[in-house]
Parts: sequence; structure tokens; C-alpha cells
Amino acid sequence: MEHSRIKILFVCLGNICRSPAAEAIFKHMVSEKGFSDRVEVDSAGLNGYHDGENADPRMIKYASKRGYRITSISRRIIPSRDFDYFDLIVGMDDYNYKELIRLSVPYNATVKVKRMTDFSEISAATEVPDPYYGGTEGFENVLDILEDCSGGLLKQITS
Ligand code: 4NP
Repeated sequence: MEHSRIKILFVCLGNICRSPAAEAIFKHMVSEKGFSDRVEVDSAGLNGYHDGENADPRMIKYASKRGYRITSISRRIIPSRDFDYFDLIVGMDDYNYKELIRLSVPYNATVKVKRMTDFSEISAATEVPDPYYGGTEGFENVLDILEDCSGGLLKQITS
């Protein structure tokens, strides 16, 4: 039913690496489980530096090797709308989380803010590290953590 849809926003710094990958992986899993009509997924960035751009070509490439298609266009978070509209707002690293908590206060939406690694099942990582200035391993590590946490998040919202 339309009113029972859960809306989830993944957030990182630039919205070109981690949160677009989280969006693609999570959408893929939601679709595989047949929950696409019950879950709405989007992503956004805190800094807006890459507004209107496609995701980082490296992230698109490594994700596509695992079967995920990243199509999102970078946008900056819009606190006045996003903290009201979304049910869960999920930051990738400690900085993202702290910024989201700070931004959420005026909208009484602090309870909606989570860390991606809150949902991990296997990984001991406490954040999804920024892969932007690193090499291949950084991107593969991000994808490993995101696959793990996306599975955990999906279980939590559908159980
Ligand atoms: P993301 O990675 O937050 O995972 O999208 C970054 C991409 C670009 C920048 C920072 C982080 N940047 O500042 O340009």
C-alpha cells in the first residue's frame, strides 16, 4: 500500500562514490526480493561540489562488475525537504553522521539519522571510508561493506 512505503536516503560527502553505490546495491536487493513497491531509495551529498554530475566512473565500473548499475545524478541534500520526506537518512562515515545529526536538529528528525554500518552483519567496519583519493582496493572495500550493510538494512525493514 502506498502509505506503507518506507523512504530511505543514503548520504555521503560528494554523492558520486559511496551513496550512489549504496543506492544502486540497495535497489538491486530490494528488487530481487520483490519489495520495489514498498521501498523508495535515493541518495544525496553534503557538499554539492558535484551537483548534476554522474557518479565517479571508477565506482560505476567496479559496481557494474558486481552487477549493479549506478544511474544516479549527484545532488546536495535539501534539509528542509529531505528530513521531512524520508523515514531513514543513512550516513556513510563519522563525518557524514555528525553533520546529518547537526542538520536534523531544527527539523526534529534526529531519530531518522543512522550510520550505514549500524546495519552490518559481517563487517567490523564502523564507517564506509571515502574511496575518492585511493585506488582499486578502496572501491572494492566500499562495495564489500555496502553489500553487507544493505543486506542487513533490508532484513531490518522487512522483518
Ligand atoms: P563520496 O566521495 O562522498 O563517496 O561521493 C567523494 C567524492 C568527491 C568529494 C568528496 C568525497 N569531493 O569533495 O570532491
